[in-house]
Amino acid sequence: MLKNDLILRAARGEKTERTPVWLMRQAGRILPEYRAVRNSLSGFKELVETPELAAEVTIQPVDLLGVDAAIIFSDILVIPEAMGLAYEMVEKKGPHFPDTVKEASDIDGLKVADPADLGYVYEAIKITKKELDGRVPLIGFAGAPWTIFSYMIEGGGSKTFSQARRLLYSEPAMADRLLDMITESTIGYLKQQVQAGADMLQVFDSWAGVLPAKHYSRFSLKYISKICDAITEVPITVFAKGAWWALEEMNALNCRTVGLDWNMDPKEARKILPNKTLQGNLDPCALYGSNELIKEETKKMLAAYGDQPHIANLGHGVYPDTDPEKVKYFIHSVKELSAH
Ligand code: CP3
Repeated sequence: MLKNDLILRAARGEKTERTPVWLMRQAGRILPEYRAVRNSLSGFKELVETPELAAEVTIQPVDLLGVDAAIIFSDILVIPEAMGLAYEMVEKKGPHFPDTVKEASDIDGLKVADPADLGYVYEAIKITKKELDGRVPLIGFAGAPWTIFSYMIEGGGSKTFSQARRLLYSEPAMADRLLDMITESTIGYLKQQVQAGADMLQVFDSWAGVLPAKHYSRFSLKYISKICDAITEVPITVFAKGAWWALEEMNALNCRTVGLDWNMDPKEARKILPNKTLQGNLDPCALYGSNELIKEETKKMLAAYGDQPHIANLGHGVYPDTDPEKVKYFIHSVKELSAH
């Protein structure tokens, strides 16, 4: 039984005694306790693939920051790896794929991920659930097919994503084939996360904002929609960074919650999405300010969501050089200012 189920009730659209709060990327480098575990290992992947340690760093922000949910420590890139495209995490630089998909024949060498290949994630979820002992719900996650596709084509991050976007014009059938495989892999993976104990799920479309609206609908939302239709077990949150023009279409998704980034206006979003729970959207840079500023900005943010179902968060992941004391102050402010 859950002792604190605020976030689940908010996700279902119920009124809650205060606004639940967590942070995207809360399990990670902002915490010295995370860095200590991480530095004792060969690298990021060892941490992701060692369930006891992944569980430990998943729970750290619950103990140290007071968030209302844990998010399982992993990465969106485990899916391309399970499909046959291994990633490396380069220190201080980010992910890198030694092999990428360049032409149609490269897809022949890939497979739909066998959910069994990601057993280390489910094991981490099981251990986390046991150790959390009902203190807060656990969020499972995956990348949206478009964002995963971008990594598989580009081989890493990019300013323009021009290689991935080029394919949508020049090879739409090939793009669909790969997107279909990623979607199928993701559905099986998310279902297994729920089986292992995830109480809710979030789909991260981090690179949504680089697409023109038409392509977003055709090559991203179409596949996110398939995922939302397939998962009926737990509430899903869809976070499409930068895709303010897609909110109207997102109203039709079978998801409970829509995440907003800091460029989106909660009041406008509320008009477009009357029946969804909204999540977000403080600018992560506000956490570089004084406590007074954080409190003021948090107050404005809460007011913009009004009395409607809301899960407080940042508008994207917390930046690694943020002072954990400021994060704590943000969480404290949400709890204090939203109580009624
Ligand atoms: O949110 C959490 O606390 C749970 C863990 C989590 C990680 N990655 C751990 C991680 C989650 C939810 C992710 C998702 C993820 N990974 C996304 C979507 C969310 C977003 O921020 O848009 C994306 C795009 C990735 C891909 C990725 N992984 C990048 C671009 C990088 C390098 C840059 C960066 O942000 O660090 C990673 C590495 C990564 N994933 C780290 C962590 C804690 C840092 C690596 C380290 O500890 O050395």
